[in-house]
Amino acid sequence: VYKAGVQALDELGLDYLDLYLIHWPVQTISISETLLAMNTLKKDNLIKHIGISNFNIKQTQEAINTGVKIDVNQVEFHPSLNQKELLTFCNNNDIILTTYSPLARGEDLKLQPILQIANEVGKTPSQVILKWLLQHNIVVIPKSQTESRIKENFELFDWNLSEKQMRMIDKLKTDNRLVNPGFANF
Ligand SMILES: NC(=O)c1ccc[n+]([C@@H]2O[C@H](COP(=O)([O-])OP(=O)(O)OC[C@H]3O[C@@H](n4cnc5c(N)ncnc54)[C@H](OP(=O)(O)O)[C@@H]3O)[C@@H](O)[C@H]2O)c1
Repeated sequence: VYKAGVQALDELGLDYLDLYLIHWPVQTISISETLLAMNTLKKDNLIKHIGISNFNIKQTQEAINTGVKIDVNQVEFHPSLNQKELLTFCNNNDIILTTYSPLARGEDLKLQPILQIANEVGKTPSQVILKWLLQHNIVVIPKSQTESRIKENFELFDWNLSEKQMRMIDKLKTDNRLVNPGFANF
């Protein structure tokens, strides 16, 4: 892990990385071995922050138990996959939750309550979802290859959803995991 970090910096022509994440927990290499190697990169000033990704509560606890400071857990999270227990756990342990696939790759843009709220607040469905996530203290990394949508996805900071609108989205059915359903259960 240490060598891979040094090699990545070399290939990118960078002196350090702001954030270095474990992409996925695996059973073949222990979480502690990986995190301790990443912590050595941090002590050597080659990375500033250490993150994990696709870690469930049990795996996040295991990461915390190593004593290495974990700054971020990047997981799938959107209205139809509202991992609220994991969010609470991360908040309680000073770990920032970042969501990937925040729009459920477009699927959640069609949900009726999202369309209704978008109509009420005069915003787009994408903006409503991203605002719901931000108001839950979640960092969002939506992806778009369309310039107008990239701009649209930034226009989030001078308006708010009401408590009632937040609760409407909180109550949606939440079983729509898009990325590898098998990974989280060891
Ligand atoms: N850590 C991990 O294991 C992991 C796993 C998966 C993904 N990720 C990362 O998470 C990021 C985003 O995830 P994602 O691409 O899976 O899903 P996403 O951001 O939920 O959805 C991307 C899709 O939504 C569309 N879209 C974006 N903004 C829109 C808007 N304002 N209106 C309508 N449609 C819009 C995009 O279309 P257009 O491009 O056509 O505009 C694209 O088809 C990526 O950077 C990815 O690398 C990380």
